[in-house]
Amino acid sequence: MRHFLTLRDFTKEEILEIIDLAVIIKKEIKANVFKKYMPNKTLGMIFEKSSTRTRVSFEVGIYQLGGIGLFLSSNDIQLGRGEPIKDTSRVISRMVDMIMIRNDSQKELEEFASYSKVPIINGLTNKFHPVQLMADYLTIVEHNKTENLKVAYVGDGNNMTHSWLMLASKLGFDLSIATPIGYEVDQDILASALEFAKKSGSKIIVTNDPKRAVDGATVVTTDTWVSMGQEDEKETRIKDFNGFIVDKKLMSLASKDAMFLHCLPAYRDYEVSEEIFEEHSETIFSEAENRLHAQKAIMVWLDSKRDC
Ligand code: CP
Ligand code: NVA
Repeated sequence: MRHFLTLRDFTKEEILEIIDLAVIIKKEIKANVFKKYMPNKTLGMIFEKSSTRTRVSFEVGIYQLGGIGLFLSSNDIQLGRGEPIKDTSRVISRMVDMIMIRNDSQKELEEFASYSKVPIINGLTNKFHPVQLMADYLTIVEHNKTENLKVAYVGDGNNMTHSWLMLASKLGFDLSIATPIGYEVDQDILASALEFAKKSGSKIIVTNDPKRAVDGATVVTTDTWVSMGQEDEKETRIKDFNGFIVDKKLMSLASKDAMFLHCLPAYRDYEVSEEIFEEHSETIFSEAENRLHAQKAIMVWLDSKRDC
């Protein structure tokens, strides 16, 4: 049995196998072919934090695969009143076939997984957002941008940045990250990425200079400056991130026809200008839609590993 907790646990071949599956599953649904890859299977979806995309895409996804999803807000289940993670895991995993969790702590997610009888999927923690990255890479594949791929990430050194580090270093593409001073990526995650990059050939640059990161990039991406749970730091962060907006001037340093990606929700005129957002909105909303297709592939892949 496999879990989907971080791309750190996946090989290049496995990541690409899931992406290939996502391409097939997307084609099928677009042709109105509802192949029931997971008939009568149940997906528990535990949310400790807000969500639009993750919730809708997982719930619709499992339904399209022939199964059903259960939305479990941590406020409504006993977990929110202090029932231990290991007990919650041992109960729910005896009743459902797969569990997706969005919570704060990656460590607690791992604890949940270690007690589970069924595959666990990370729907975002403070450290990683791997399902988002699968949708992002699917979008890159669909736009034929995989050759000489050079991604520039401008913004906070957060769960999205860490996930980009894992994806780039596993697949072997180049990644430049620009964060303000004091908002750098987790050094242990960076060290792992640099280790994987030795094998894959990925060139990873971390800098405090957005211009250096974006120079020649074929894909530019960013994320909110204020992640969920950091609302109290909003004012300070907005000051500290001055100069890190992805706007026309910064985008002009990227390669011609560079793509712009955003995991959403986007805060216009903070991390991205309204102009750049709208110019790239078609790609951004395809990226959002790809959450559905990529996650269906993740669920089918995990289910297949469970059966064999
Ligand atoms: N990108 C993303 O995970 O969106 P939600 O927070 O709406 O799920
Ligand atoms: N970094 C953001 C991503 C939202 C999808 C957060 O954790 O809130």
